[in-house]
Amino acid sequence: PVPSCTLQARASAVVLVLSALEAWALDSYIAAVYEHSVLLSEDTEKPTSPEEALMLMDRNMDVLEVAIKEAARQGAHIVVTPEDGIYGWVFTRETIYPYLEGIPDPQVDWIPCADPERFAPSPVQKRLSCLARNNSIYVVANMGDKKPCNSSDPRCPADGHYQYNTNVVFDSEGKLVARYHKYNLFVTEKQFNYPKYPEFVTFNTSFGYFGIFTCADILFHDPAVVLASRFQVDTILFPTAWVNTLPLLSAVQFHSAWAMGMGVNFLSANTRNSTLDMTGSGIYAPDGPRTYYYNTETENGHLLVKELSSHPRRSPGYPPAVNWKLYASSIKWLPSNDHYFSGVIYHDLFSFTELTEPEGNRAICQKDLCCHLSYKMTEKQKDDIYVLGAFDGLHVVEGEYYLQVCTLLKCRSTDLSTCGQPVETAQTKFDMFSLSGTFGTNYVFPEILYSGVQLAPGEFEVLSDGRVISRTGTSEPVLSITLFGRWYEKDPPHTERASP
Ligand SMILES: *[C@@H]1O[C@H](CO)[C@@H](O)[C@H](O)[C@H]1NC(C)=O
Ligand SMILES: *[C@@H]1O[C@H](CO)[C@@H](O)[C@H](O)[C@H]1NC(C)=O
Ligand SMILES: *[C@@H]1O[C@H](CO)[C@@H](O)[C@H](O)[C@H]1NC(C)=O
Ligand SMILES: *[C@@H]1O[C@H](CO)[C@@H](O)[C@H](O)[C@H]1NC(C)=O
Repeated sequence: PVPSCTLQARASAVVLVLSALEAWALDSYIAAVYEHSVLLSEDTEKPTSPEEALMLMDRNMDVLEVAIKEAARQGAHIVVTPEDGIYGWVFTRETIYPYLEGIPDPQVDWIPCADPERFAPSPVQKRLSCLARNNSIYVVANMGDKKPCNSSDPRCPADGHYQYNTNVVFDSEGKLVARYHKYNLFVTEKQFNYPKYPEFVTFNTSFGYFGIFTCADILFHDPAVVLASRFQVDTILFPTAWVNTLPLLSAVQFHSAWAMGMGVNFLSANTRNSTLDMTGSGIYAPDGPRTYYYNTETENGHLLVKELSSHPRRSPGYPPAVNWKLYASSIKWLPSNDHYFSGVIYHDLFSFTELTEPEGNRAICQKDLCCHLSYKMTEKQKDDIYVLGAFDGLHVVEGEYYLQVCTLLKCRSTDLSTCGQPVETAQTKFDMFSLSGTFGTNYVFPEILYSGVQLAPGEFEVLSDGRVISRTGTSEPVLSITLFGRWYEKDPPHTERASP
């Protein structure tokens, strides 16, 4: 009975493969992110040779190599390095050209470390691939891609090629498994082109389903929200070069809030540069930050390593879905419109009301958004002035996006005209707070920031009716408590500012 024997063998082989897959799939994994202090070229306004460009990139990759080896030594399955981490950011379209490589579609099934000559010279991809392969770790990096085009394509730039800000991922064998072209370029990124369409880049591993995007992408719907909500990825990989913008958009504050609001793991690796106020990297889970790094004192890089659930949606602690306006819409008491004034947060005109008493209930409305706060300060400090603020409108500076924001924040000084300006320290702790708003969107990111730009893991909770509340009182003085809402349907269409 040879045929049935064959069948038998096939059947048991299937069983074996299935059980091997079961054993192979991990419930948790170890993630690493590296905040890298990028070594910059002395003059990026002047054209350089490909050899000189590679020398600078190798110096940066020498530093990344030490971090990647250390991450692997600590058992990490994957390590994320920052946007612009291999060559920096101050370039023109011409001067960045020698730094670019043609990066193929991962479908070509390529291990640059094993087969470096298969395409045009690609020393950066080869080295990243070898770092991944030699250390048996997934490596996530950001580099530049160039793609030739010609006049048969009306979008083709005059110099005959596209230049893309690109994330690459090499698996633990060194194979290229993901390539993502940044869709929402920041206004200053004139050296790069916008891809024609947003790319939704994902890949599977034994430790979960991954999606990837870059820096300013996090403020927009495509591809960020689609990856988290439609593709339902487990973990987002996020190389960034994020300039901290208090009081609402500091890196650790906003990125950890996005992970919570979207219900995904989030691995954020920031570029380090004190002059530009770039610091703040972290390993964030849907129920709060696992570990993070914010340091304005040194110029050194820093490695974070932490365990995460491979499939957070399946884990018992996964936060329930939130109806963000449920509680606030049920409140009957209306704001007393006395003592209210206007102030600016990062170019947006907020309506503010001062918290003059050490405890109480307050409300403030702007357009369709009403923000409600119950609070009790532990002890009101004379020098700390707090306001409750509301904003409902289109933000138009450095990108156009529609916001609905409720925020309780400390003013920079006792002068009310400074409310909304960046401030890094406070002295007032709170025994309790409960903040909610009548949001028209269900995309709301809860931010709690303590004195010294520190996060508050485990000290607050988002209820399913849309309230963010303190669990135990705050262990540290409060800088701001914010519900940062994004109403994507009200955004203007995606534009191509940097393309010629
Ligand atoms: C990887 O290992 C090979 C062989 O041991 C070695 O030649 C190469 O320099 C290593 N490359 C990296 C980037 O570690
Ligand atoms: C232009 O590019 C297209 C697609 O890459 C190619 O098929 C075509 O041959 C090119 N035309 C010329 C004139 O080079
Ligand atoms: C990866 O896994 C996800 C969820 O487990 C699944 O939906 C998706 O189709 C898989 N993708 C690939 C390319 O295998
Ligand atoms: C930070 O960036 C600025 C502007 O690009 C640059 O002049 C400065 O040298 C950088 N600092 C460090 C420590 O690299």
